[in-house]
Amino acid sequence: MNIYFDNAATTPLRKEVISTISEVMEACFGNPSSTHAFGRTAKTFVETARKGIAKQISAAPQEIIFTSGGTESDNMILHCAVKDLGVKRIISSPIEHHAILHAMEALEQLFGITTAYVKTDEKGTVDLEHLEMLLKSDEEKTLVSLMHVNNEIGNVLDLEKVGSLCHEYNAYFHTDAVQGIGHFTFDMEKLPVDFLSAAAHKFHGPKGVGFSFIRKDSGLQAFIHGGAQERGLRAGTESVHNIVGMCKALELAYENLNEERKEVLAVKTYFIDQITTLFPEVQFNGLCNDLTQSTYTLVNIALPIPEEKALMLDFHLDLNGIACSKGSACQSGSQSGSHVLRSLRSNRKEEWPSLRFSFSILNSKKEVDRLIEVLKDF
Ligand SMILES: Cc1ncc(COP(=O)(O)O)c(C=O)c1O
Repeated sequence: MNIYFDNAATTPLRKEVISTISEVMEACFGNPSSTHAFGRTAKTFVETARKGIAKQISAAPQEIIFTSGGTESDNMILHCAVKDLGVKRIISSPIEHHAILHAMEALEQLFGITTAYVKTDEKGTVDLEHLEMLLKSDEEKTLVSLMHVNNEIGNVLDLEKVGSLCHEYNAYFHTDAVQGIGHFTFDMEKLPVDFLSAAAHKFHGPKGVGFSFIRKDSGLQAFIHGGAQERGLRAGTESVHNIVGMCKALELAYENLNEERKEVLAVKTYFIDQITTLFPEVQFNGLCNDLTQSTYTLVNIALPIPEEKALMLDFHLDLNGIACSKGSACQSGSQSGSHVLRSLRSNRKEEWPSLRFSFSILNSKKEVDRLIEVLKDF
């Protein structure tokens, strides 16, 4: 029995998405920029998908710009905000994805902007009073970039509250919603969010495709220079089949969201019960065991396993066909380990191995039972 508990890394494609992608690949190979019938067919596929995606999040079609995924969307928005909107300061947090943190470092070097990081506590909660203090402290044009759902610990940010605070101080607000889109509903007409990043492979769509939401008349200019695709913002021939596949995946994600959310949450709560029974001392990293403040798809735990044995833990799981993600503060293959876990500054014993288990609609309680058996055997 192979078990995939690593859905925050990527999700398997839904069967319907694979069929849609194959159909598009067979039906249409034209370049959407060509003016002949082949090109027009491809263009229609792309624009229909744009409308479809926009509809799912109550955005306008022209606010959806297709990209190669979350990393590109994050880089595009940060880079263009500095280049085109006169942003001189970016405020973020220490628990963001590297697509944000490393992009900020690059922008410091390239454009001499300043960066600031809002405090987070031992559970990874963003300190909004500190954010307000930072916003107040400087009149420079500012972009705030804070993620919607944390990919390592699952904390969910209140976008309404944070966006309103940013706007009160005339700062732009970007959210990396790569782990949120397709899992939570978004109403971009109402949300005080200027820019948002998304990636199809986190909601059972294809890899290498995503989108940026860029609010109308924002003033952003080209990120990738070349042809006139994506209204001149992002040149390059569109990945037509992937774009259509992403739209299909998003429609399916929202079609039965409530039922599917209940099912995935049932797996998560069962996991929490079972792991707590097996290891009463288990520690939950971040807010992942607070069901009101974390995503229903993810658990990050530190297990009371002796250091010498801990090194073998993921090997043991892998050998038994169980895929999850190492989330320890000190990981093999990486000298520095997880910057997110390190920033939690908890009283957790650093030598305890941390693991992230992330679930989808394709997981079951039976699989949790199997995991517990495998852990008992360890
Ligand atoms: C929160 C977050 N942001 C950005 C990314 C990068 O997205 P992509 O892999 O599509 O470039 C990821 C992927 O792990 C993510 O979880």
